[in-house]
Amino acid sequence: MRISVFRTAHFNAAHRLHVHNWSDQKNKEIFGLCNNPSYHGHNYELTVKLTGEVDDETGMLIDLNILKQIIDDNICKKFDHKNLNIDLDEFKTLNPTAENICFVIWTILRDKLDSKLEIQVRLYETPRNFVEFPA
Ligand code: NI
Repeated sequence: MRISVFRTAHFNAAHRLHVHNWSDQKNKEIFGLCNNPSYHGHNYELTVKLTGEVDDETGMLIDLNILKQIIDDNICKKFDHKNLNIDLDEFKTLNPTAENICFVIWTILRDKLDSKLEIQVRLYETPRNFVEFPA
């Protein structure tokens, strides 16, 4: 049986949208308030969707406690209460848009989870704005 399981998580983080090789003027034009040099924060909500075949013996796709632990250890601890531009190497040059944050989270989880599992990550930057990778 093929099935999907979901786990949600949460972190708070600050960021600033900024492309390093653009002028300050162009950054301000393109990103507006999100380019504020003093940064701003979001309450990010994350949904991780795993899809695959249920194990015949356990009747489970994955032990959800293990999934929770992997998300806590590798995503929440890394992102929560951080300034994404300053504190995370991934965003030293990569613009920390919701799209790029979502992709970075997917990449980290891809490395930690069994390759038999398909992973889809949905990231809410606000209750009304969210992104999903892969599309
Ligand atoms: Ni923002």
